[in-house]
Amino acid sequence: MSKTVSGFSKLNKVEKMDWLIANFFNNDKKTEHVLKQYWNDNNILQDLHDDFIENTISNFYLPFAIAPNFLINEKPYTIPMVIEESSVVAAASLVAKFWSTRGGFKAIVISTVKIGQVHFMYEGDKNKLQQYFSAIKFQLLKVTEAITQNMKKRGGGILDIELRDKTKELDNYYQLHVTFETADSMGANFINSCLEAIANEFEKDDIQIVMSILSNYVPECLVRAEVSCKVEELYAENSELFAQKFVQAVQIANAEPHRAVTHNKGVMNGVDAVVLATGNDFRAIEAGAHAYASKSGKYKSLTNATIENGVFKFWIEIPLALGTVGGLTKLHPLSKLSLELLGNPSAKELMGIVAVAGLAQNFAALRALTTTGIQKGHMKMHLTNIIKQLGASEEEKQFLIDYFEHKTVTHNAVVEAYNKLVGDK
Ligand code: MEV
Repeated sequence: MSKTVSGFSKLNKVEKMDWLIANFFNNDKKTEHVLKQYWNDNNILQDLHDDFIENTISNFYLPFAIAPNFLINEKPYTIPMVIEESSVVAAASLVAKFWSTRGGFKAIVISTVKIGQVHFMYEGDKNKLQQYFSAIKFQLLKVTEAITQNMKKRGGGILDIELRDKTKELDNYYQLHVTFETADSMGANFINSCLEAIANEFEKDDIQIVMSILSNYVPECLVRAEVSCKVEELYAENSELFAQKFVQAVQIANAEPHRAVTHNKGVMNGVDAVVLATGNDFRAIEAGAHAYASKSGKYKSLTNATIENGVFKFWIEIPLALGTVGGLTKLHPLSKLSLELLGNPSAKELMGIVAVAGLAQNFAALRALTTTGIQKGHMKMHLTNIIKQLGASEEEKQFLIDYFEHKTVTHNAVVEAYNKLVGDK
């Protein structure tokens, strides 16, 4: 049977699924069951999900969890998180509680400027191009008026258009670098529509537009989140040594890109989970955050820590182009619920919350890494996953959890203990 297909998009959902099962799964009914068990009986909800993307044949569930006890700028939050990795939410909750008794998190939005670019080629005289741009700039803004009208009412719009000479990077390459304020929306559609209108107006015989698109690198859409306390309040045992090793761990991430990538991955565990829960674009956030981590020319930590005059300070600075209106935010019932849970925050407030989630996650990781090691907590959480894979009953599960309370969890050890348990029965 052929594994390529034409007119696939015109098939209905069942036909698409049948084609898949016939071509890739030997017509195995089990595959149909796996896919269908995730279909939602609520047709309205299922249609909504089907329409998010093309060729939908099922739904892919991820856990939706909440991390309570966050105190941010004196305000309590319960933070929604969507993530598959065990221990992330548990870590967030523990760290939230820990800092809530030490003044909580402080978050401050530094700037909210977004960027879009019209990339074009021009071989002529640079001065003539500059003159043409200066002459047409007002008109470029004017042609976007129909698009910017509503955004202006919400306090946003185009901030500026600049002509940038990029010919040192690439022969004949220039761009219109456009800055935007998009208020509570992430603004991707708004920015791209403005850019295309600008490009249409700007184009002429000797100006070849290559493309017009927003940039996900938004170093001026920046938020800072921070915690601090006296060193002696930091850790129950040897607080000074703990603080010192913690700061060294951050310094290592700043000195060494291999470590920095893993360090920042831990930050993104928290960031992505909230970004996903609130219906925002985690790929955009990821791309922008890692570019920001490389802004010095070397990939570094997104977080920083110091000890000064007996005070431990730990903070993150991260670019976050987020929205609380538009896109999926209010369309996906769980994103809508997440935003409600957060008190329907503005985009700025959400930037603070997400940055805090990233900082908290990094704190949890570094605390574990510099003290007990990461595996203790991880494997405890992983234990339940292994137990599930083994198909253990509730009673067997409880037995195994108790059994491993003070033992090292490894996959083999759990399998052995389980086999012994069922063998003994
Ligand atoms: C695992 O998802 C994240 C960590 O590796 C982060 C870190 O090493 O800092 C624990």
